[in-house]
Amino acid sequence: MKKIILTGDRPTGKLHIGHYLGSLENRAKLQDEYDQYIIIADVQALTDNFDNPEKVRKNVLEVTMDNLACGIDPDKSTIFIQSMIPEIAELTIFYSNLVTVARLERNPTVKTEISQKKELFGVEGDSLTYGFLGYPVSQTADITAFNADIVPVGEDQLPMIEQAKEIVRKFNSLYGDVITEPKAMIGNVARVKGLDGNNKMGKSLGNAIYLSDNEQTITLKVMSAITDETKIKKYDKANPDKCMVGYYHDIFSEKDKEKVFLECRQGLRGCVDCKKQLASNITKTLAPIREKRKYYEERPELVEQILKEGIKKARKKARQTMKKVKKAMKINYFKNN
Ligand code: TRP
Repeated sequence: MKKIILTGDRPTGKLHIGHYLGSLENRAKLQDEYDQYIIIADVQALTDNFDNPEKVRKNVLEVTMDNLACGIDPDKSTIFIQSMIPEIAELTIFYSNLVTVARLERNPTVKTEISQKKELFGVEGDSLTYGFLGYPVSQTADITAFNADIVPVGEDQLPMIEQAKEIVRKFNSLYGDVITEPKAMIGNVARVKGLDGNNKMGKSLGNAIYLSDNEQTITLKVMSAITDETKIKKYDKANPDKCMVGYYHDIFSEKDKEKVFLECRQGLRGCVDCKKQLASNITKTLAPIREKRKYYEERPELVEQILKEGIKKARKKARQTMKKVKKAMKINYFKNN
């Protein structure tokens, strides 16, 4: 029996090269070795976008296509929409008894997100919703409804897995050994910085290159990237370590990067040419992804079919788990439920 992986994204925007290098590239590899479930977490996206359901709805398809474009094979991975699996919501309610409000308030991921919101939108503590505070509980249900053994995550999501483990242990100690305790799998690729030098490439930060961007858009964005500010004239010497163009060359220009860095340090290359070369390399790397994405964009009925089948499979699995959960909790009142 293959081990089970559960991973996924909130559909709040199209996915970008940070997602690709940080997780999607890896997902395409993991699907051979593991039984992989990919959740399009629309319910979680709504916890802080409940006032903008149109945005979440639109991005469910975009994120599905981004995954397929990166090589997710629907015959190997099960890709599904969170809200279509009501068992997850049910399980969330049962789990909510097993975690204290104080513990959720101490969750570092939630804490960071709350303080970011305060900075970005001036949101005050008293507007923190029950749903948002509780999203780690719902994420625990996402993972355990499918009996997942492994959750591939970035470092920032580690406290989420820790929280999930605690809830699972509590459940198992109270009701019997029913739920699989998940483990985190930390990817080998660090988080990708934004074009503006921000530590995070983010949808809301406006500093991302999307998997669906064409050559023209990529070139325009790369032109705006932050370079070594001490370089003023075309042939001034500069430090590629202080330049976002250098940073991306390191990732996308396997063949030319040594020459690029040397010429930059020696003052032999202008930033405009350097940026054009980078844009061309990023475009080349993304070309097969963009092509595949286009294939799915032109066949929305196929994407819908893939989701429907994924939902069917995911639901079957979640139902099995709920049957055991209800039995353990003594809320299986009649013979066949
Ligand atoms: N929290 C993840 C994000 O911010 C999305 C997500 C929802 C998820 N449920 C999950 C990730 C379960 C891993 C496992 O993008």
